[in-house]
Amino acid sequence: MQLAVIGRGNVGGGLADLWEEAGHDVTRIGREGGDVSDAEAVLVAVPGGAIAETLDRVQGIEGKTVIDATNLWGVDPPPGFSSNAEFVKSRTNGPTAKSFNTNFAALYDRIGEARSTPSNIWSGDEEARQVVEQLNRDAGYEPVYAGPLENAVAQENFLKITGGISQGGMGPFFYRMAPPDQL
Ligand SMILES: NC(=O)c1ccc[n+]([C@@H]2O[C@H](COP(=O)([O-])OP(=O)(O)OC[C@H]3O[C@@H](n4cnc5c(N)ncnc54)[C@H](OP(=O)(O)O)[C@@H]3O)[C@@H](O)[C@H]2O)c1
Repeated sequence: MQLAVIGRGNVGGGLADLWEEAGHDVTRIGREGGDVSDAEAVLVAVPGGAIAETLDRVQGIEGKTVIDATNLWGVDPPPGFSSNAEFVKSRTNGPTAKSFNTNFAALYDRIGEARSTPSNIWSGDEEARQVVEQLNRDAGYEPVYAGPLENAVAQENFLKITGGISQGGMGPFFYRMAPPDQL
């Protein structure tokens, strides 16, 4: 698949590496923005508070299938929106999903060590299902559907709880991926 990642840091860069290993062709875009016209699917992995300015600098994203991986630490979604994912959809009018926001990028290179395939939650549009589930599996995760895009707000807010429970952040999600002494 022809993919574009917007944000080439821990998440965008890490998933780009995994997807390239799985045979996808990935274009990596940083804060300067760029054109995603050629992409069949787009990942957005930038700081949550930068979502609006980021999309302002991206061309060709209208109608695309987009996976939003952002989290909101100390910031709210853009005014009038319950979640960043719903804001993304308002800008693209294409199939939209929230995924990859509940798993640590630092563990991407250890997914293969897990005793069983680690789960990864996604919520979003049915039209995005095939792409988001394939890209989850191609990154090494078993996708778990968490409902329509309206549920993205719960997925974003969940991090406020899990981030506080474990000093390591999203510990419960990674119990199956790492020995407890490494969480
Ligand atoms: N790290 C994790 O384990 C993890 C897990 C799940 C979700 N998330 C979420 O995923 C998103 C990306 O996290 P990350 O750890 O990949 O971040 P990161 O390593 O800091 O990378 C951020 C990327 O966003 C780009 N960017 C675009 N606009 C920006 C702006 N205004 N300010 C700063 N950077 C901007 C940066 O561009 P340049 O390349 O040009 O610098 C960079 O490529 C965040 O919303 C985060 O909460 C993180």
